[in-house]
Amino acid sequence: MRRRPAQSSGIFRGLSRTALLILLLSHRCHAALNVADGFNITATEVHVGQGTWNPAWTLLVNYSPALQPVVNVSIGGQWLQLVFDASSAYAVVFMKEFATCQPPSLPSCYSYKEAEKHGGFHVCSENNDPKVICDTRPNDRWSCTSFLSNVVNTTPHTDVLMIDGLEYRQRGIEGLDTMMMELSGPTRHIFSWSAVPVRLLTDNLTAVTPGPMNLSLNLFEGVDGILGGSGPTLSCRNTTLWHLLLQRLNATRGWGGFAIAAMGPLCFGNY
Ligand SMILES: *[C@@H]1O[C@H](CO)[C@@H](O)[C@H](O)[C@H]1NC(C)=O
Ligand SMILES: *[C@@H]1O[C@H](CO)[C@@H](O)[C@H](O)[C@H]1NC(C)=O
Ligand SMILES: *[C@@H]1O[C@H](CO)[C@@H](O)[C@H](O)[C@H]1NC(C)=O
Ligand SMILES: *[C@@H]1O[C@H](CO)[C@@H](O)[C@H](O)[C@H]1NC(C)=O
Ligand SMILES: *[C@@H]1O[C@H](CO)[C@@H](O)[C@H](O)[C@H]1NC(C)=O
Ligand SMILES: *[C@@H]1O[C@H](CO)[C@@H](O)[C@H](O)[C@H]1NC(C)=O
Repeated sequence: MRRRPAQSSGIFRGLSRTALLILLLSHRCHAALNVADGFNITATEVHVGQGTWNPAWTLLVNYSPALQPVVNVSIGGQWLQLVFDASSAYAVVFMKEFATCQPPSLPSCYSYKEAEKHGGFHVCSENNDPKVICDTRPNDRWSCTSFLSNVVNTTPHTDVLMIDGLEYRQRGIEGLDTMMMELSGPTRHIFSWSAVPVRLLTDNLTAVTPGPMNLSLNLFEGVDGILGGSGPTLSCRNTTLWHLLLQRLNATRGWGGFAIAAMGPLCFGNY
């Protein structure tokens, strides 16, 4: 997944030389793989020495019905399945009240009314200030220190996301909410943060140019949003959930970057 080409020079800036990501096969992957008839895929393995990968912390990655990698994140007191996108920065949620989950009846879909009950949800006042636009200029970070009273009277803004060569239009509003992620390390541990930037979609994600077989319409089926795995440089916000996670795991201090990926529901972590 990539952002639009004009901004692609910044891809992975947020992760470079910081996150050490290890992707490991787990047993839950096989059901999702669908090998076409007529040819066989062969797998080969090469012994490269003693020892095993031994990450200090591991985050489970599963796969959505459309084979998108998803991670389990709690936002506003609701556990959500978010597609992990290494090259964007926003934590994006589809909203139950605006019917922007696919399908709209998706049971786990984020509800801002639930989030309000939970107490940590705020809508940034910048949304309704036409002089402040949400883009990636370095000195234009939304501070989000004052809030609007509700979602309904908030003006959404549009942004574009490039995914698998398809350009998507996102329309939504910027807010803050409490977030949690569970990692396994020395023990299973739930990390939590308050006042983390979140983008709430008020319209369905739409592909600007629909791809073959309407892939664009199906890519986000059964998931609750997108977790950008980049730092704040690719956003208008002053931090990102992924950046806060790396900081909490001490991954932002002097670690070399490295990643390998494997097909199937995965684990990734750092050490
Ligand atoms: C795929 O594997 C099966 C079973 O080993 C074999 O019978 C078949 O010829 C193979 N097909 C191709 C295209 O190699
Ligand atoms: C997400 O994590 C929470 C907390 O550990 C857990 O209760 C829930 O079952 C998880 N959801 C999925 C789909 O793994
Ligand atoms: C982002 O801004 C909030 C105030 O809105 C502040 O509390 C927080 O420390 C800032 N985060 C970073 C990483 O600068
Ligand atoms: C989003 O698409 C669904 C159909 O998948 C539709 O029911 C819903 O009304 C749409 N939401 C908006 C805000 O257009
Ligand atoms: C793509 O979606 C449109 C609108 O939902 C539909 O009319 C069209 O038949 C679909 N095309 C394919 C190849 O499924
Ligand atoms: C990160 O480093 C600090 C200070 O060295 C330490 O207290 C903390 O436990 C470390 N966090 C993790 C998740 O290892």
